[in-house]
This record gives sequence, C-alpha cells and structure tokens, in this order.
Amino acid sequence: MSASKLKVLKGTPILGHLLPYLSNPWLFVNKTTETYGSRVQLKMLNKTVFLLSNPSDITDVLQNHAEHFSKGRTFQKLKLLLGEGLITSEGSLWRQQNKMMRPVFSIRNILNQKDVIQQVVQKHCKWKTGQVIDVHHEMNKVTLNIIAQTLFDIDLSAQAALLLQDVEDMMHFLMGRVRSVVSLPLWIPLPAHKKFLKAKKRFDDLVYGMIKERRESGSKKNDLLQLLLDTRSEDSQGMGDQQIRDEIITILMAGHETITNSMTWALILLCQNPSYQKLLADEVKDWKQGADGDLFFSQQNLHQCVMDESMRLWPPVWAFMRQCQTPIKVGEIQFNPNDIVFLMPFFAHRSSSFWEKAQDFFPERFYAKTQITSGSYLPFGLGPRMCIGKMFAQVEAKILLSFLMENYRFELLDPQPQKVEAGITLRPINNIQMRIKKCT
Ligand code: HEM
Repeated sequence: MSASKLKVLKGTPILGHLLPYLSNPWLFVNKTTETYGSRVQLKMLNKTVFLLSNPSDITDVLQNHAEHFSKGRTFQKLKLLLGEGLITSEGSLWRQQNKMMRPVFSIRNILNQKDVIQQVVQKHCKWKTGQVIDVHHEMNKVTLNIIAQTLFDIDLSAQAALLLQDVEDMMHFLMGRVRSVVSLPLWIPLPAHKKFLKAKKRFDDLVYGMIKERRESGSKKNDLLQLLLDTRSEDSQGMGDQQIRDEIITILMAGHETITNSMTWALILLCQNPSYQKLLADEVKDWKQGADGDLFFSQQNLHQCVMDESMRLWPPVWAFMRQCQTPIKVGEIQFNPNDIVFLMPFFAHRSSSFWEKAQDFFPERFYAKTQITSGSYLPFGLGPRMCIGKMFAQVEAKILLSFLMENYRFELLDPQPQKVEAGITLRPINNIQMRIKKCT
C-alpha cells in the first residue's frame, strides 16, 4: 500500500456510489480499496468522497492539517445522544473541554482506579470448567460494569442488565441513523423513536440523579464523576450539569464498546493461537513473583504486545470520518469544503508495505515500537482528537487479560473465519461461543 496514484471513480449519474455503499458499507470499502488502492475519490449524491488508507494521507488529515477538517455529519447525528461531549464537540468548546478533561485521565487518577477495576473483573469473570460462554456478551458486561463503577463508584449490577440493553439499543438506533440518507425527526412517534427516547430518558435520569446527589451531599468520592465535578478551567469555572452529563455519556459509550471489541478480538486470536495463552499466564506468574516490574503500566511486556497486535488486525475504530472545512491541497489531492474523507486504519494496519507478514498474528513485533511508521498504526487515533482514554484502556485491558489468562483457558467452538459488523466500531457478528477450562 505504498502511495498509489489517486483513482477517480465516477459511479452512476446523480447517486454516484451511494447505493452500493449503503447496501453494505464494509463490503464496499473493502472491494474498492482492494481493486483501486489506497487513494480513491468517488461521488455520493452531490458530495465528493475520499477513501484513504495510506499512512501519509492519514497523518496529513488527522494531524498535519487537522485544522482544515471537522468531524462532520456522522458526529452531528451522534449528538442526539452524546450532546456536546468530547467526541462530538468542535472548536473552542472542544479545546476548553479537552484541556479540562485531560487531567481526569492522568496516570495518577488511573492508578487510583486500579483496585476498583480488579474487583469488578474478579466479580464478573466467574466461570466453571466446561461452561460455554458468549465471549462478546461477557466482555460487554464486565467492561460496562468497570466503566460504571469507575465513573460513579456505585455497584450497578442490579441495574446493569437494563443499562446494558439501553446502551446496545441506543447505539443500534444511532448506527441506523448514521447510515441512512434521510432521518425523520424524533418527535414522529415511530416505535424505534419511542424506544430510543425511553432508553435515553432512563439514562439521563440516572446520570442527572447522581450529579444532583453528589453536589448536594458535599461528600467526596474516589471516582471519575468527582474528578469531573472538581475540574476547573483556567478562569476557575467548573462544568455545568448538562456538560457533565454529556461527558459522562461520552465516556460510557467511548470507553465501553471499544474495549469490549478489543478484548473479544484478542480472545478470538488467542484461541486461534493457543500457545500464547500459556505464555501470558507465565508472564502473570513472573510478574506476581516480582520479576517483571508493574505489568499494568509498562509497555514492554507480552500482554501489551498481544493487545497491540489484536488492535492492529482488528482495530475497534476501523475508520475515521472527517469533513473538509477550508480548502487545502495535500500532495496530489485537493480537498474542498464539504468533501467527506474516510480514513481507514484497518487497511493501513494490514498493509504489507508497512508490516512484515501483515496478516499473521505475531505480537512480538510490538517490542520494537520505534519502527512503526506514522499513520500505519493508530488504534487510538492520531493528532489533536486522539483518544483521551488510551492509558485507561491499556491498564483496563491488561488487568482483564492477565486475570483471564491466570485463571482460564479459552477454546473457540466455531473456528470459521469471523464475520464482522462494521459500524462506528468493528465487532464480530453473532455469538462468539468459547468453552472454558478453569486453571487450578
Ligand atoms: C480499546 C479501547 C479504545 C479504543 C480503541 C479507542 C479509540 C479511540 C479513537 C480512535 C478515538 C479518536 C476518534 C476520532 O479521531 O474520530 C478516540 C477518542 C476518544 N476516546 Fe477512546 N478508545 C478506547 C477507549 C477509551 C476509553 C476507555 C475512554 C474513556 C474512559 C475513551 C474516551 C475517548 C474520548 C473522550 C475520545 C474523544 C477525544 C477528543 O476528541 O478529544 N476511549 N478513542
């Protein structure tokens, strides 16, 4: 995938490539990239759309010329639920919020949450030898409980099933809207609208209730909500209730689905490459005997490499969408206002121009991180809008993975290649059934 020439495709009159894209976006971008390479320009209705998966283009748009691009239409639609949280906001509001939120995710604060995460993992990952589990569902449950517990310092187990279902339903509904060309206003009483609004109301009531209770009680807790309530801008202003609600829902969404998918893919790969399960268990043993530093924070260990390699092959955020705001020419590509740009790390991560044996699972390659070309590996994004929860995610994944490998072995029941559902995140379709063996 070394820089191919820009391929300009016309498509059918008026609609351009809209229909094949809408009928299966994942298949469409795969086929187009495979056939025409890493730089493609096409039309969808009256819009010019770029499909780019070359690391230099990805770096130019997300980092070097980020100020010329906004997040665009998809993120406008996500505002229905996420409001003006960090993922969806733009301009000066985003800059101010980003500055206020970064310290919330500092190493010190994540360190404070380590024990809480460990307790939730121990509580929710209890299986017996011979038991068959749906791994995606189990990871979903544990990661939601982790994020809820670290955000609110309350045990949500009783409400978790309902909350989990609400999160699923709301994401599903939003994905449908993101894909559709025409979205009807929410006040039209369609069953899907009613279901979404009901779930959103339950969610909002829960969050506003907690903000109110905390402000009124005056007591301080060791959780992210407290940090959000306490954080101050340069002119000593705190966040209002609505801004805190938007950030909480954003963190719940951003920090839950992504980790669920990265853990599910990691476990699938570990079943397909079972010798790594034993190697990881050995690493936990070494670490507990004090031979290997602190596994959770160090980057130089097999746990980190396995997570990095899993996210190379199956990046939870497989594509980024941007919309050009002000004209800019980058190399041979002229971007004009309103042009849509799809940047697709999925293909850069699997390019044989940048990765040796690109399709193989070989975690050890990540011991030499310095050799990675900019834009060829970006599971957490790149440039100013990069993931704020990266450290949190890495620590959580290592706590979870080390617990699983210390206590269990996993066997995939159906070894067929996984079918994927590619929405905002990339997740395996169907139940991922694994048989458990408990290690004594
Ligand atoms: C494996 C886990 C995760 C992955 C792969 C991931 C990936 C990403 C990516 C790719 C972006 C950039 C999106 C863009 O540029 O359009 C992003 C942004 C973000 N992520 Fe994560 N994320 C993960 C976990 C988390 C966690 C645990 C949290 C919070 C607890 C979090 C919170 C956020 C937020 C708030 C943003 C928006 C940052 C901004 O625009 O200023 N993420 N994430």
